[in-house]
Amino acid sequence: MIDAEDKPTAGQAEKRLFIKTYGCQMNVYDSERMADVLRPLGYAPTDTPEDADFVILNTCHIREKAAEKVYSELGKLRVLKEEKALDGRGAMTIAVAGCVAQAEGEEIMRRQPAVDLVVGPQAYHQLPELLTRTARARGERIGADFAPNAKFDALTNDKIGARGVKGPTAFLTVQEGCDKFCTFCVVPYTRGAEWSRPAADILTEARELAARGVREVTLLGQNVNAYDGAGPDGAVWTLARLAYGLAEIEGLDRIRYTTSHPNDMGDDLIAAHAELDAMMPYLHLPVQSGSDRLLRLMNRKHGRQKYFDLIDRIRAARPDMALSGDFIVGFPGETDRDFEDTLDLVRRVNYASAFSFIYSPRPGTPAATMAAQVEPHVASARLQALQALLFEQQVAFNQSQAGKVLPVLFERKGRHGRQAIGRSPYLQSVYVEDADHLMGRIVPVRVERGQQNSLTGALVDESLDALKQRAPAAQALGLQA
Ligand code: SAH
Ligand code: SF4
Ligand code: F3S
Repeated sequence: MIDAEDKPTAGQAEKRLFIKTYGCQMNVYDSERMADVLRPLGYAPTDTPEDADFVILNTCHIREKAAEKVYSELGKLRVLKEEKALDGRGAMTIAVAGCVAQAEGEEIMRRQPAVDLVVGPQAYHQLPELLTRTARARGERIGADFAPNAKFDALTNDKIGARGVKGPTAFLTVQEGCDKFCTFCVVPYTRGAEWSRPAADILTEARELAARGVREVTLLGQNVNAYDGAGPDGAVWTLARLAYGLAEIEGLDRIRYTTSHPNDMGDDLIAAHAELDAMMPYLHLPVQSGSDRLLRLMNRKHGRQKYFDLIDRIRAARPDMALSGDFIVGFPGETDRDFEDTLDLVRRVNYASAFSFIYSPRPGTPAATMAAQVEPHVASARLQALQALLFEQQVAFNQSQAGKVLPVLFERKGRHGRQAIGRSPYLQSVYVEDADHLMGRIVPVRVERGQQNSLTGALVDESLDALKQRAPAAQALGLQA
């Protein structure tokens, strides 16, 4: 019998937890926090469902394929659960969390009887309590109401102990939900209304992360740049104000944030990129389409010219800014001409990396019932053409780094020898030999080659400070050797 009051003791048998995460970075953050709330109950993570007592699927509802994957995974888990029960390996509890849980909780319970509980994105802090109840009766479904404040209040150190930290980088949710209602998107329905965490709580979490060796945080929100949390000084803080606060934390050298909406890109945030060394020169700024007609149908609330103007202002503040975006092809009614406008926008902006998707009709969203759904083979051909162009730009961007000296934050060991893998300021993976002693440090690396998805480089016989002094204006980034 599991009790929420149980604390792991030396003699207590360890229980094993397996979490499989789908979807966006916020789900990654949420999965880590689920592990955190379950740790005081004696649950330790495991890499396979086979030896797990508790399996959680943290799901994504954004496209049909993502949602359907969950049901096929559940089918496999059901077999495993039955086998374990039969050969005496004990009970296995199965939970479905995340955005599919929120959107289709009842359907999950109906389609897959092996599922013990369903918990939405704002309710996972209740997992300990739910587990206790499930031990008595199956079939709890929690999370139809959105109350992110209650969740975050339950996730503090004094309640569940320190956050688990994996290496020198960490995600940190600062904003959740979306009020934008793009006509194709389920997120406003699965994550609820826009809500910002109080700045003091974020600063506390960031300080704790820094104290445990985290050098880089990625601030997360469905519309992260719409952040408007209560500041410790009583004022409303913007994301820019928050970034200035975070930049003061000792040891926290790099700040990233995702995902931003073009309409919420404030001047103060753009200025922060010019003023703060810690603000990394990489920005994920989805536009979805280059056609004004489609942007209207998508309810994106801005046109292509506004996006171009914004990019100009960002590049004026930070000329080396690497841009990334999301694109949807095959949105209902998309013509060849509309698609040409998207290719034209991509050519003009020149992305360092990007994600592109074929439109997937989602139940309950306005676009799903729009006339003129695009033929699948047309959408596929457009996706191929768009991805070829984006890929070309990505390769060219990576190749353009050759010869530069970049500060690299080393995150993990490579596959062979003493190779280590880190990140450039522009979020590229950088492979360096004989560098595995530098884990968690930011070190200058001379880029030798840019490949499709990564850079290869070598350590430079110079300190980061010396490099900064040679070119102080370059903010220690993109320094020419
Ligand atoms: N909040 C972010 C992104 C949310 S979802 C934003 O406003 O941009 C991540 C990406 O998935 C979106 O940017 C979009 O490109 C894609 N996406 C969302 N709904 C989709 C759908 N129904 N079909 C295909 N792609 C979709
Ligand atoms: Fe979805 Fe649009 Fe909100 Fe992004 S801004 S989460 S695409 S509704
Ligand atoms: Fe997917 Fe939910 Fe994130 S639908 S993209 S997991 S917000």
